[in-house]
Amino acid sequence: MILRHASSAACLALIAALPAPAAEPAPDTRVPIVLTSAEREYVLAGMRGHIQEIQTVTSALASGDREGARAAALQGGTRHFATLTDHPPGLAEKWPAAWKQMLRARLASFDALAEGIGDGDSATQTMQRLSTVLQTCAACHAAYRLASGSEKP
Ligand code: HEC
Repeated sequence: MILRHASSAACLALIAALPAPAAEPAPDTRVPIVLTSAEREYVLAGMRGHIQEIQTVTSALASGDREGARAAALQGGTRHFATLTDHPPGLAEKWPAAWKQMLRARLASFDALAEGIGDGDSATQTMQRLSTVLQTCAACHAAYRLASGSEKP
């Protein structure tokens, strides 16, 4: 009897812990940028590259390899961007001014991260700079989405 009570109490606790039924998803207010599928693929591949750069920065720092971390941070920065020659033609003209500003912020944040690591930043300072990098990602992700030509913006 005591056991049965215990298990029904456990059941109630479980039910109380279940998430409430899903509410309507919030409307997507991000501004769509219409790209061709080749342009979209190019942009998204670059985005996946940023995750890779951040992963390399963090794993290098975790193993005390500051030079490796600096080199990975430079991959997301201004100088590396300037060497890219594979931009699909016409893509640069499709970016709104605010996008370009956020892109520049992303590049500058990686520059600062690399510079700080090179200058002997403490772990806390490096985390602050990494957080600034991630803020630039999050700000743009909150503002824009990519759309295909067939989609009504
Ligand atoms: C200037 C704008 C901008 C910046 C800065 C930016 N992103 Fe993105 N990113 C986007 C957009 C737009 C998408 C597509 C989202 C959508 O269509 O739903 C995207 C998609 C992605 C994706 C998904 C890739 C895929 O294959 O679907 C990843 C991962 C990503 N971004 C990582 C990052 C990281 C990490 C950073 C920062 C270092 C970053 N992005 C900075 C705009 C940006």
